[in-house]
Amino acid sequence: MQKKGKIIAVASGKGGVGKTVLATNLLGVYSSLEKKALLIDMDLSCGGVSVMLNLPKGKTIYNLSDDILNNRFKDSDNYVYHYNDFVDILPSCKDPRQGSKIDSNIISQIMAIYRNSYDVIIVDTTHVPVLSTLISLDLADRVLFLVTDNPLDLRNSSNLLSILEDIDKKNVYVVLNNSYRNEKNYFSKFDMRSVLKHNIDYILPNSMYIGNINKYIMDGEILVLNNKLSFAKDSDRKLLIKIALDMVGEENENKKFSE
Ligand SMILES: Nc1ncnc2c1ncn2[C@@H]1O[C@H](COP(=O)(O)OP(=O)(O)OP(=O)(O)O)[C@@H](O)[C@H]1O
Ligand SMILES: [Mg+2]
Repeated sequence: MQKKGKIIAVASGKGGVGKTVLATNLLGVYSSLEKKALLIDMDLSCGGVSVMLNLPKGKTIYNLSDDILNNRFKDSDNYVYHYNDFVDILPSCKDPRQGSKIDSNIISQIMAIYRNSYDVIIVDTTHVPVLSTLISLDLADRVLFLVTDNPLDLRNSSNLLSILEDIDKKNVYVVLNNSYRNEKNYFSKFDMRSVLKHNIDYILPNSMYIGNINKYIMDGEILVLNNKLSFAKDSDRKLLIKIALDMVGEENENKKFSE
């Protein structure tokens, strides 16, 4: 039977706030839950997924788009990197100039193709509100919108969130990321909520901060799958499972992780 995978977009109002780390961790959680998941790197100008997971060179979303446009497309499996038995990755373009050739029509076709083969598709976007980001947000069943207590980030996020509200985008969840750097927040949760005019749905706590994260990035590891890391701490891991299950609309229960 064909699947009808849920599309989850990871977005933000500022760069470098932890979108790709969250997207890859969710991918790791889905793989532990034995759900078929695809991570699409939709940052078409300089996507970071291939770097973060240290992927070998291979086909990209540009080759897929080019083959669709030229009627050469046959097998969707040819374009994805198999990270493990459950999770695959569709890497972003190698050259940012290729990104501009991927239009909105192609992006919706790509989503339609892959949602038949996966339980969940995670779309990692860029904070720049370019077409690929806007289309991804539009097509997503759920949006995880990362914010930090950075003033510029709060202002940009507030603007983008109000645009999403204006276009009546449903299922937008705000995630306050307190784990991307090891400092205390300057603003209170109350201040941030007032600026954002949106509830804060999840908070990634500072305990998820990894001091030597670059070591794991160089090794291409998904943090949540490394049992030696503090990510393995019960509450942090449970939070990521909760987010992952909420996004596919299932109960927050899983034996594999809680055992
Ligand atoms: N849990 C963490 N622990 C330590 N550092 C982190 C953590 N999460 C994120 N960072 C730091 O923040 C940087 C940016 O993270 P990431 O690449 O996920 O952000 P992004 O929002 O995807 O950025 P971009 O806008 O460039 O795509 C990482 O390279 C790392 O230095
Ligand atoms: Mg990124």
